[in-house]
Amino acid sequence: MARLIKKTKAEPIQISVGEQTKYICACGLSATPPYCDGSHELAAFEDDGKLYWYDNDGNCQEIVDTFPKIRGE
Ligand code: FES
Repeated sequence: MARLIKKTKAEPIQISVGEQTKYICACGLSATPPYCDGSHELAAFEDDGKLYWYDNDGNCQEIVDTFPKIRGE
């Protein structure tokens, strides 16, 4: 089963526990979830009004169809 989920954040969430700091992926592109692997930089150019998807090689495609009530942030 697959899902289409809208993610708009382009940077990780920093979590600190004691002396340890971890970066949690908030963009949805990390190959090592839940941790950030720097893949959010692929989305740096994105336009706010457009929707994109990324393949396993990090290639970006713009979606031309619309999903008016897609769940996400
Ligand atoms: S926030 Fe997703 S890879 Fe960095």
